[in-house]
Amino acid sequence: MSAARCYTVMPGPKPLPILGNSWRFALGWKPWKTKTLDITLWFLRALAGSGGAAKVAKLFGHPDLVFPFCADETARIYRREDSMPHRAVAPCLRHYKQELRKEFFGAEPGLIGVHGEPWSRFRSKVSKALIAPEAARAAVPELEYVTDDFVDRIERILNADRELPKDFLTELYKWALESVGAWALGTRLGCLTNDTEAKVIIKCIHGFFHSVPELELSAPLWRLYSTPAYKTYVDALDTFRSVCLKRLTDKGVCAQIANSSGKKVATILALDLLLVGVDTTAAAAASTMYLLANTERAQKCLQSELDAKLPTGRRMTSKDLDQLPYLKACIKEALRIKPVILGNGRCIQSDTVISGYEVPKGSHVVFPHYILSNEERYFPSPQEYVPERWLRDEMSGEHQCPKEMGIHPFASLPFGFGRRMCIGKRFAEVELQLLLAKIFHRYNVSWRYGELTYSVTPTYVPNEPLQFTMNARNNQ
Ligand code: HEM
Repeated sequence: MSAARCYTVMPGPKPLPILGNSWRFALGWKPWKTKTLDITLWFLRALAGSGGAAKVAKLFGHPDLVFPFCADETARIYRREDSMPHRAVAPCLRHYKQELRKEFFGAEPGLIGVHGEPWSRFRSKVSKALIAPEAARAAVPELEYVTDDFVDRIERILNADRELPKDFLTELYKWALESVGAWALGTRLGCLTNDTEAKVIIKCIHGFFHSVPELELSAPLWRLYSTPAYKTYVDALDTFRSVCLKRLTDKGVCAQIANSSGKKVATILALDLLLVGVDTTAAAAASTMYLLANTERAQKCLQSELDAKLPTGRRMTSKDLDQLPYLKACIKEALRIKPVILGNGRCIQSDTVISGYEVPKGSHVVFPHYILSNEERYFPSPQEYVPERWLRDEMSGEHQCPKEMGIHPFASLPFGFGRRMCIGKRFAEVELQLLLAKIFHRYNVSWRYGELTYSVTPTYVPNEPLQFTMNARNNQ
């Protein structure tokens, strides 16, 4: 501490007297637009300099934000985090669980938007059943049925030019929701056939994902009165909650939790899984398809692997997925260039030193994974989509990280790290592997439009319609 520089000299935008820095986001001028936080992060990175840190201080009703732009520093902070990591949370979710529907959630409100003892108790009840590799592997048969139905649906929704419809991202939401339902609740929700209840769920999904950015990232008017976005949001959560209560079966991963910890815990877990397990995997699938569609060489390598290794005449098993290293590298590389979540936060619980600056307790440290994983010093030619980076034996010439360094283990952390890391990681990986294997085995996927632009909503998703062209391959 004694050798550290004073917090006040850490680079960052200068706060105005009284208005602090909140006015920047309120006016929404570049680089302070909440929808383009990617640009904000690059701006802060420039202020911080190589390996340094920057801050955004004096925000109304919000702790200061500190951004360390260094993988070694990220490793040091994560490794020292205590047994109950505190992640900054969506205030509207905390409001729903801990104020509005407090009588339902009670002392065990789940994982999302919960901290301290209640989070730790809940996570220890559910962690083993979800995070164990077998939990996701056991889901392969059921998920394969969902994936097959979705790929058949793709064929049906193509237009005469074999292009996917403009709202293909919504189709991916349906696939993701159907998959989480099959895994968590042990049931088919019917999102791919549009049965009556599924239509209601899909309407809620739309409402939920459109209202969250407004509630989270704009001025919190919903605290003063019930704005239309707030009503949509509460309706969606109430519907999801009743779906979880009604559709919990004696199969699925939540059934195991119901046996060990009771139906209430299982229902709350199912709700959390549905809330964060849909837009994340849908965005990851969209970005991987886009990057592969634009990188013919990688698409061909993937298809060679799939042609050689996918089983014919029988259903897939988790062992088949183990035989697909190139596919796994394609997903990792997509999550490196376009991570679904740009940065992951921790509220620090004691005064500490970050990148050589004193940082006071209570500040929110944001690890800007998106910047680190797109930096030349960690990934040579970072904008190029090169899945081989992740395959030790096949790293190709100019994209190779120096041998003695390899890939820094903290330079690309799309699922976070430590005790609070993504509990759905293994499931998401299996789900994505199955979908992409089936799509690229069946189709040559191409992209006829310009470069996609992205927004933070709060996941990092493409703005333009995802009209991929899907031409059947000769093997069909
Ligand atoms: C590509 C897909 C996904 C990505 C990139 C992703 C990323 C993340 C990240 C960055 C976190 C925060 C981790 C941290 O604070 O260290 C997180 C937390 C979480 N994720 Fe995921 N996720 C994905 C898919 C899923 C899926 C499919 C599910 C459930 C079915 C899920 C459930 C959760 C839950 C429940 C948490 C909160 C864990 C806790 O606070 O204890 N995620 N995820």
